[in-house]
Amino acid sequence: MESSCPHLGADMSHADIEEYGDGEGEEETTAVAVCPWHRYDFDLKTGKSETGLRACTYAVEVRGKGKDEVWIEAPSDGTGWRVVELRPVSEEFADPPPQPPSEILTADQPGEEEPVVPLNNPPSTLIEWAVLILNTPNPTLKVERTKHAVHAFRTGKLSSIGHKSSKAPPPPEVPPREKGFRIVDPQKVKQRRNRAVMLHALANIEQWAIDLAWDIIARFGPMHKDLPAAFFSDFTKMALDESKHFSLLTSRLSSLSPSTPYGSLPTHASLWESATATSNSFRARLAIIHLVHEARGLDVNPATIERFRKAGDKDSVGVMEIIHADEVTHVTAGHRWFCWACERGVGGSGEGAGGGDGEGGVKVNPVKAFREEVKRHWKGEIKGPFNVEDRERAGLSPAFYEDLRGNPEEPQEKVEARVGVGYGS
Ligand code: FES
Repeated sequence: MESSCPHLGADMSHADIEEYGDGEGEEETTAVAVCPWHRYDFDLKTGKSETGLRACTYAVEVRGKGKDEVWIEAPSDGTGWRVVELRPVSEEFADPPPQPPSEILTADQPGEEEPVVPLNNPPSTLIEWAVLILNTPNPTLKVERTKHAVHAFRTGKLSSIGHKSSKAPPPPEVPPREKGFRIVDPQKVKQRRNRAVMLHALANIEQWAIDLAWDIIARFGPMHKDLPAAFFSDFTKMALDESKHFSLLTSRLSSLSPSTPYGSLPTHASLWESATATSNSFRARLAIIHLVHEARGLDVNPATIERFRKAGDKDSVGVMEIIHADEVTHVTAGHRWFCWACERGVGGSGEGAGGGDGEGGVKVNPVKAFREEVKRHWKGEIKGPFNVEDRERAGLSPAFYEDLRGNPEEPQEKVEARVGVGYGS
């Protein structure tokens, strides 16, 4: 069944599956997918609902010796079958479900506990949650609030997304960090010679990445009121993934001997510099954060994995492999929504047709538009070597990034420092 509910676009991969009819008095058992938002149900075989709405359905078979391959009848021509997914369990089963909010308390100091759901004015929309999480300096609380908000969004427990409301709160210019957290110039951050320094640097990037996923929701949702529910599903998934990565990396850090607690080493905020530079343009944000920085992560992750492998650190190899697989899906989401904005001619930062962050521009070519955004907002060269295969899986063909330079005015040393801070690098 297609993953967007035909009613208002909820993510049907989080639907409940229910059966009714037991053969006694009813002709046969029917399985339905019940949408998590408004509880409309859709017959799994036909896609029909009693409301008159209908979801597209496709024939599916589970094959393979270990029954671990999901095959789907290709929707394009209806003649062939192809494998669409090899994944043992969904992320929800892989991760423990979030704890009830009343059981989670975090504190900077003993006696100063702050609940996951604030006691005063708790958020009721997704945008309000996004802004609260951006304003949460404690990384543990940020992670717990992310888990809670995403779960509430997926299961229809929020009043709305809230991006169409004139009362949507604005996101902070820079998400705050805890007292004592040292942010220094990227060039002054120690080169990553040992595992602790590498893991700490990666965890810092993941903490900014959680904020970046919430920031695109809170900042650009209200600017583009026709963004569909699928956009918010993609970026809440991203926020949840980044939270998972942060937790995995910080638990690796604390298992090292001697333990290196998160926050004990200096960090940099280069990713947020790019966020600030692209805060007025949806397309520029997607291009620079998700299709340059995050795609760079796909290039450099294999070498990082190799370094952990050579150091005999199998657990960190496992963590990095999870991060890498998730990041392919993040670049895919960046590409998908960049193309969405180009198709409608909205969200660009340039002058003229298709430019400006208003609505209703002229359709533009995504490759051309991406190269223009990079020239405008990126300093220096888009550096290889490229992981062509994984970039391609995410929809990023070489035409997007080959032989591409941004604004060449910045001194080369600064460019190098910036280029070295892609996700996962
Ligand atoms: S969005 Fe699915 S029933 Fe409303």
